[in-house]
Parts: sequence; C-alpha cells; structure tokens
Amino acid sequence: MTSNSPQPVKKVPIHLQSAQNRVYIKNGQVVNADKSFKADVYIEDGIIKFVGAAADITVPGGVRTIDATGKLVMPGGIDPHTHMQLPFGNAVAVDDFYHGTKAAVAGGTTMIIDFVLPNKQQSMLEAYDTWRSWADPKVCCDYGFHVGITWWSKSVSDEIGVLCKELGVNSFKTFMAYKGLYQLNDSDLLDVFERIRSLNGVAMVHAENGDIIAKNAKRLLAEGITGPEGHELSRQEEVEAEAVHRACILAHQVDCPLYVVHVMSKSAGIEVARARQRYQGKYIMGETLAAALGTDGSHYRCQHFGHAAAHILSPPLRPDPTTPEFLMKLLANNDLQTTGSDNCTFNKNQKELGLGDFTKIPNGVNGVEDRMSLVWERGVHAGLMDACQFVAITSSNAAKIFNIFPQKGCIAVGSDADVVVWDPQATRTISKDTHHHACDFNIFEGMTVHGVPEFVLVRGRVCVENGLVRVAEGFGRFIPTPVRPAYVYDRLEGNAEAQQPEQQQNGNASKKLAELDAHIQPQQPIAAMLSADQNGNSHNHPARARVDGVRDQQESSFSLSEELDKAAVRSSIKVHNPPGGKSSGFW
Ligand code: URP
Ligand code: ZN
Ligand code: ZN
Repeated sequence: MTSNSPQPVKKVPIHLQSAQNRVYIKNGQVVNADKSFKADVYIEDGIIKFVGAAADITVPGGVRTIDATGKLVMPGGIDPHTHMQLPFGNAVAVDDFYHGTKAAVAGGTTMIIDFVLPNKQQSMLEAYDTWRSWADPKVCCDYGFHVGITWWSKSVSDEIGVLCKELGVNSFKTFMAYKGLYQLNDSDLLDVFERIRSLNGVAMVHAENGDIIAKNAKRLLAEGITGPEGHELSRQEEVEAEAVHRACILAHQVDCPLYVVHVMSKSAGIEVARARQRYQGKYIMGETLAAALGTDGSHYRCQHFGHAAAHILSPPLRPDPTTPEFLMKLLANNDLQTTGSDNCTFNKNQKELGLGDFTKIPNGVNGVEDRMSLVWERGVHAGLMDACQFVAITSSNAAKIFNIFPQKGCIAVGSDADVVVWDPQATRTISKDTHHHACDFNIFEGMTVHGVPEFVLVRGRVCVENGLVRVAEGFGRFIPTPVRPAYVYDRLEGNAEAQQPEQQQNGNASKKLAELDAHIQPQQPIAAMLSADQNGNSHNHPARARVDGVRDQQESSFSLSEELDKAAVRSSIKVHNPPGGKSSGFW
C-alpha cells in the first residue's frame, strides 16, 4: 500500500470507515452548473443528504464540520480523458492508477474516465479485464472507462455490445491518426459509428489525418528534421481540422453522436462549432485539454530536447499563442463542452526514446492535477466565464454526456459526495517539485494560478485538507456509464425541450463563425516549406551528407526560420537535430 492514510487492520474496513464519515460543510456558496446559492451541505455514508439553510437541519453529534465561509462548494472535477499507466510503444506512462488518481484528487478532480486501448487483434473484453485489474486495487477516486476501437471485425462489433450491455461502457474512441497502429479508414469508421448508434452509445474520435502525418513525418525525417519541432510540423492545424470536419460528417451520415476528444487548435475548434451549428446542437460535442488552455507550441522550439519533448502530445500544442484564449472562449460559448487532461506522463528517459526521431517520442503530458486550477485561472479569473460555467466544463457536462449525472457532477441530495471546497482567491505556483504526479516534468512549471482546492471529498472521505493530501489506495470504485445519455439522445431524437437551450446559444452563429474564421493564421504546408521534387529530394535545403553517406550532426542542423518568416507564420524555428538514428515511428 502506498496510501498516506492510516493503514487499515483489514482490507475492507477502510472503505466502510470512510463511507460512514459524516461531514457538515457550512456557510459555503454552492455552485452547480445551472445556479449558485448559499447553502450548507450535509454528507453521510458517501452521499449528499442535505443541501439547504442551516435552520432546516439538525446536525447529529460526532460530525466533522468544515467552515466554508468565503469559499465555493462545488462538485468534484470529472476528467473525461486520462491514460494512467498506458503502454505506449516501448514505454509505460509513469502515472499509474495510484499516482494518477492521487494527483487528480490533489487538484480537485474526484473522478476520471480512462481509456482501455486494446492492441490490434486483441479482444476488447480481455483488454477491459486487464485495465480493471490495473485500476481497481490502485484508484484513489472513482473512475470509468471508454474503450478504444483500434481494429474492426465482426468480433469487435459483438464485443461493443457486451461492453455496452454488461460492462458499463457507453463510449468508444476511434482514431483517424496513428497510421498502422490504431488508425481506421473512413469505411470502418462509418461501420463503427453505425454500431455505436445502434446501441445508443457515444462515439469518440481522435481527429487528425494519419495519412498526411505519415507522409509529412517521413519527409521531415528525410530532410534531417528529427527533433521535437518536427512533431508539430508534421501535423499542423489544418491536418486536425480536416479530420474533425470529416469525422463530424461521417457520424452525422449514420445518425451517431460524436464526441471529439482533445481539440487542440483554433481551426479544429471552429470545425466543432460549425458542425454543432449545422446540426442544431445535436450530434457533435467537443473537448479541449488543460494543456491547450494553459500553454502553447512555442516550447517545441526550445533547443533542449528534454524540454521540447516533454510537451509532445497528439494533436500537438499550437504555435499560435492566441490559441489558449480562443479555446477558452469556445468553452465559454458552449461551442466546446468539456476539458480533459489527456494525462499520459513519461519521464525524461522515456521521452529520450525519440532522440533522433521525433516520431518515437512517447506522446503525452501531465494535466490531471492542474486542470481545475488552470481552467479557473484562465477562464474565471481572466473574466471569460463564471463559476457555474466552470463547473459545467470541468464536471457536469462530462457527467451528462457520459450518463452519470446527477450521481456525479452535481451538489444535490442523493448525489455522491464528491465535493470540492474551493478558495477562489488563494494562489499556488505549479511545479514538478511539489506536484503529486510520478513524473519528473510539469508542462505548467512556474505558473501561478488562482483557485485552490482547500478540501476535497471523495465520496464523503476527506482526502485533501489545507494542502495535505491523504488518499486511500483502492478506495475508488468503477462507475458504470449506462447507454443512452439523455443529454445526448433527447436532443438527437428531437426532444424539443432538450433542443431549446442549444438553439438559443447558437443564435447569430453564422456571423459568429465568420468572425472566428478571421482568427486563423494560415500555415504553409510542409511540401511548400521543403519544396522537394517528386522524388522527395529537397532543392532549397539540400542535406549535407558526408562522403560515407552519414549525415554530419553539426551541419545537418537545419533551420526552417527563413521559410517560416516568408510565410509570416512564425518568427523563428530552429530545428534541433540531436544525435541518434532514424527509423520509422509508431504512426
Ligand atoms: O498524445 C496523446 N494524446 N497521448 C495519448 C494518446 C491519445 O491519442 O490520446
Ligand atoms: Zn487521442
Ligand atoms: Zn488521449
């Protein structure tokens, strides 16, 4: 056991003991997605039993009382996108289900939804069992699963049925990228979406054009652009936006709701907004990430491999520095619905697997701990949204989309007592030296953020108090996500009441989208930057080869800055070309 809590004598009592906690939170301002009001909250056996005025409750003796004067009492965050201990190429993500959920709870997130990712040809049910066996003994907070559809066959189709009907999974992630690994073609995507629709599930998509990426990556590597900056160059905004556009149409054609995961660019965000407008708020939902809201792609230009590589994820952070605020505005406008973290952390030595070949850098960054504070800082503290919207995009909308509302995502009688007492004025400075992740890097290093979780309760158990994190390993439960989320399907099936708010929010949308379009900075395609002939030989930038055919490491360091300056895209990009061999990567 790695728990910080008092060690139980037997295995079961810690859960019972914790579940029987009685907690009274008084004098706070309750914030739900729809309204905010002054109320006391009483919790027993892990469930919220009372929300109301102090005068209306007689609190029993022996109750732990938390004074929330001047604080907000909010539903714990739900992170709909994590990858704890994910095997990725030759590396396994270092935040396992213990460290990852501990970090989550430390930051005010009380439920994660992780991804089961079967290998090609592997049974989804077998993979599901494996992931459960990893998670169940370790999770410090509740969790659910999405399952990846990494290949397609009759057996996969049958197993989707089992997962929906018997195993508590309603959402399935498809990939338009990672060619040769997870990527599905359009024909398979259509079949998958159709199958998910037939089961009243929710399709998810990693939207990037894997064919373009594979071609660009090959070309960049051949030109000697092997460092981390090659990652973003190989998969620019329009590569993401094209796939979002296509995925939305494919899903719509078979009447299937689609949740676009990790929207990382302005162009892709606009495509989600456009599709939502086109389909009157039905079908399409979008998620962006703490990383996309909190930092940007300028880090890929850093000369230090370790620093640049630590920021690599897919789709990548974007070089346009106005991207974070733009995405936050899309969230505030309900053009995007949720914020995840995509927490998938690798240490320096693991990232170094990609020395000399950016396609081999394990993809993923941290975010599960800092997501709530970052959204508060950049969203609420910056004046772009209010506290209710904050709750919607960090918790309630995910609960609704994945059909666990109001058990989760809500401060209400009968809901699970996943509660955060939030100090909106307090600040903290993010650092790898103080975070609760198992990883040796934090992409938000040095940022000071307003909004600190003073108390965090996981099903009634006080796990964070005044900076002290005391989680219980294995305390979390698997939360089944049933099919046919009303939030998604009522709208899709024409329930007029459900449709109304979306239609109102989408009023004036054409004008709005035209205005959004004006914010896109066109990028120059790789082919034009490198201006190669049909055989892939570059004329503008011949790579200097030694007579023995081996590239000189000094001379092959290659700068694209001139071309990029010409294209008015970026002021300078130095291509870092660290020593190391080349070979084909994962996708
Ligand atoms: O780079 C990322 N996002 N890593 C995790 C896998 C995925 O595509 O979500
Ligand atoms: Zn993905
Ligand atoms: Zn992911």
